[in-house]
Amino acid sequence: MEWVHLSVCMSLDGHIDNDCGRRLVLSSEEDCHDMHRVRADCDAILVGAATVRRDQPRLTVRYPELLAARRARGLPDHPIKVVVTFSGDLDPASAFFSQGGPAVVLCDEEALPTARTRLGDVATVIGLGGADGVAGILSRLDGLGVRRLMVEGGCQVLTQFLAAGAFHRLRVAVAPFLLGRAGAPRLAGPAFYPHGADNRLRILSTRTLGNIAVIDMENPEPKVG
Ligand SMILES: NC(=O)c1ccc[n+]([C@@H]2O[C@H](COP(=O)([O-])OP(=O)(O)OC[C@H]3O[C@@H](n4cnc5c(N)ncnc54)[C@H](OP(=O)(O)O)[C@@H]3O)[C@@H](O)[C@H]2O)c1
Repeated sequence: MEWVHLSVCMSLDGHIDNDCGRRLVLSSEEDCHDMHRVRADCDAILVGAATVRRDQPRLTVRYPELLAARRARGLPDHPIKVVVTFSGDLDPASAFFSQGGPAVVLCDEEALPTARTRLGDVATVIGLGGADGVAGILSRLDGLGVRRLMVEGGCQVLTQFLAAGAFHRLRVAVAPFLLGRAGAPRLAGPAFYPHGADNRLRILSTRTLGNIAVIDMENPEPKVG
């Protein structure tokens, strides 16, 4: 894998969604446009199954000039959409499967037969082959020819990529308000992280995009492939 770009939008207290029925709007139009620029520069976008269940994300490139730039480079309009799942419990009628680029389901081996039956018509369903966590995910995506990957969440998935140090860039967009709800998901959960006070990520830029603060960080030692 040439490039892994993690991207997330959070509140000031680190929440990436609400814990009630209503979805939490964090981003701004300007931030969204900039985030789509990252999407447009990747072959595939990965999310966890809980994000698909909750948000039904389309993971498309939505802006005409970004689509035109992809076409000029001979790329399909939209990156491949990848969802990782242990259970295979995903709804084939989800907008995730019907809109945007081709869908790939990376599934735990045990749930593979059921997942193939349920999702085989709407996605390419591939077993993780007992391969461990992030390394297994990256090796399966390598096998599909994915060289540039964007990872958009949620918490469980980001936690694994951050803890494995398996990324080149981290893009964090911060919305200027506190959510204050203990049960709401955060950017990352408890884990042993390779980056700490004595071994920090490098800040490349801080930008204000429509009342959202965007911090672009580089991992000096990406553990990818
Ligand atoms: N603000 C943002 O930028 C942003 C972006 C994305 C998502 N979100 C939010 O994040 C929340 C969801 O986060 P989450 O932490 O609950 O879940 P998540 O990371 O989206 O998905 C977790 C699920 O992914 C599957 N999974 C995780 N690691 C795997 C692995 N190594 N191999 C195979 N499958 C794996 C499992 O699926 P199964 O359950 O099927 O076993 C697991 O339950 C939602 O509220 C969503 O709105 C926010």
